[in-house]
Amino acid sequence: MPEKITVVGSINMDLVTSTERMPEQGETILGEDFSVIPGGKGANQAVAAAKLGADVHFVGRVGSDVFGGRLTTHMKEQGVSARDLQPVPDEPSGTASIILAEQDNRIIVVPGANLAVTPEVVAAHEDVIADSDILLLQLEIPVESVTKAAELAARHDTTVILNPAPVQHLPKALLDNVDYFTPNEHELLHLFQNEADPSIYRSRCIMTKGADGVLFTQDNKEKHIPGYPVEPVDTTGAGDTFNGALAAALTRQYPLADACRWANAASALSVQKMGAQGGMPERQDVDAFLKDQVERQ
Ligand code: RIB
Ligand code: NA
Repeated sequence: MPEKITVVGSINMDLVTSTERMPEQGETILGEDFSVIPGGKGANQAVAAAKLGADVHFVGRVGSDVFGGRLTTHMKEQGVSARDLQPVPDEPSGTASIILAEQDNRIIVVPGANLAVTPEVVAAHEDVIADSDILLLQLEIPVESVTKAAELAARHDTTVILNPAPVQHLPKALLDNVDYFTPNEHELLHLFQNEADPSIYRSRCIMTKGADGVLFTQDNKEKHIPGYPVEPVDTTGAGDTFNGALAAALTRQYPLADACRWANAASALSVQKMGAQGGMPERQDVDAFLKDQVERQ
């Protein structure tokens, strides 16, 4: 039995428009391409981990619209257990309107049904959280619900990974129950510019730096695990692939540096295909990519 990862988080339909340039204020332009593809940080991370062979359980909410059904079917097709992904009446499914232009990506997320993942809903899944090795969290559901989930995990010795995206103020009650904290540079700055050093919290901070890889501290020394330079097609969801892969590697007891190297490779593979989930690799793809990198040196 693979170890279990539970994601309590968001699921969105991504409405992706590709265009050569952004329109100016009040301007209409002709774009290049449009696609409707499953996304949402929680769902992306769940799919990334499942594709890498982990046993993944998703707790979330969709709308009772046409996107809700499609998103639920998609999660099952990707091998994620979706028993606790339920429709809510009279709410739209979460959407992300994404404009991809050269050098300039812009995203508007409307959470919709994701806001129905309340602390009460989370509390009703205490057994699932207790039964998991890792609980993987992001910030596209209400922060009180994220806090509740982390509290339940701590109560049952389930390891908590928090990817603080999209960034917002975090209550100490949440940070106190996080084991691995995975901000990017921008999120880390935003979170701690007016506060004490993040090292006062008990979590281990793994800062992601895109193609530059990640930084964390071990035995009082800063460790840099380099990323892999690739020609990106679409960097949407690169961080999600990293987080899902990190969780999958940690359930397999990889030491942290190896887990980060592995997750960097998964992320490098994913950005070479369109869509947040497009290009997410399977386990053998990551191993082959890493072997190839070693041989090139
Ligand atoms: O991290 C990428 C995701 O952020 C997209 O799939 C989109 O849904 C937004 O939530
Ligand atoms: Na991709």
